[in-house]
Amino acid sequence: MQDAHWHVLGAGAIGCLFAQALHRSGSSATLVMRPGTHQRFLPVIVERGDQRCEAQLPVITAGDDELISHLLVTTKAYDVRAAVAGIAHLLNDDCVVLLLVNGMGLAEQLAADWPRLDIYCGTTTEGAYALGARHIRHAGRGQTRIGKTGLATPPPWFAQWSRAVDHCVWDGHIANALWAKLAVNCIINPLTAVHGCRNGELGQRRDLAEQVALLCDEVSSICRAAGFGDIAQQLPSTVAAVIAGTADNRSSMLQDVECERRTEIEYITGYLLEVADQLGIAAPRNRALLEEIQHRAH
Ligand code: PAF
Repeated sequence: MQDAHWHVLGAGAIGCLFAQALHRSGSSATLVMRPGTHQRFLPVIVERGDQRCEAQLPVITAGDDELISHLLVTTKAYDVRAAVAGIAHLLNDDCVVLLLVNGMGLAEQLAADWPRLDIYCGTTTEGAYALGARHIRHAGRGQTRIGKTGLATPPPWFAQWSRAVDHCVWDGHIANALWAKLAVNCIINPLTAVHGCRNGELGQRRDLAEQVALLCDEVSSICRAAGFGDIAQQLPSTVAAVIAGTADNRSSMLQDVECERRTEIEYITGYLLEVADQLGIAAPRNRALLEEIQHRAH
């Protein structure tokens, strides 16, 4: 079978990392840029250790007429819907859409807007951050899990991802991986953002460790009620391990708050609260954190 041609919507750190990985492994990868981008090729630079890899990737915008059969979406969570709507006229009817974004609820939103799209979700622990426009540092190797609920075996295009990306696995139970990430993010992201601290302080400062424990209880009870009992049970040790493993990091939400950028809280804590409401579970600590972060943004 012929390799799929991937279009990448969202040229941030993760989008650039995977666009270049696909390109270097022999797949076609095209960047979908904002209207007004006139270049037909743009450089994507990935630094890794003391190596520097530069690739010139083709570019399209919504004004072009190139049809899209396989779309990787790596925008901010709150941009997904509008960004996909902006290029909807270019999407094949049964276009494969792979969402590699933070937060939850977006696959459902896209499926409601465009029922014929073939939507997959993924989550990655690859560490990459931007040094400039389409210039990133690949700081830490991680694992990438891709899947679609109800699909035990991968579709043919997944072979390209296995080839392009180290430690990329097909996950027949992707909802578990997404919920595990959501649960951890619901704890580390808002607490670090509200207290202005690095991840490690959540384990080192007694007052913050207490808040982590209380929030873990609340998030666990929602995970359990939503059918993710294993995640609930392991949450305290998972969170402790992520805090220790990323002790020096400033969480993505802390960085957003510090730079006065919009946060993804509605798609993280906000999504958890929607599920809690549906299940009739009170979640006052999560609600207070959501309100506090939203308040800071205004
Ligand atoms: O969003 C983040 O920053 C990361 O997902 C995590 C795990 C909270 C570590 O910083």
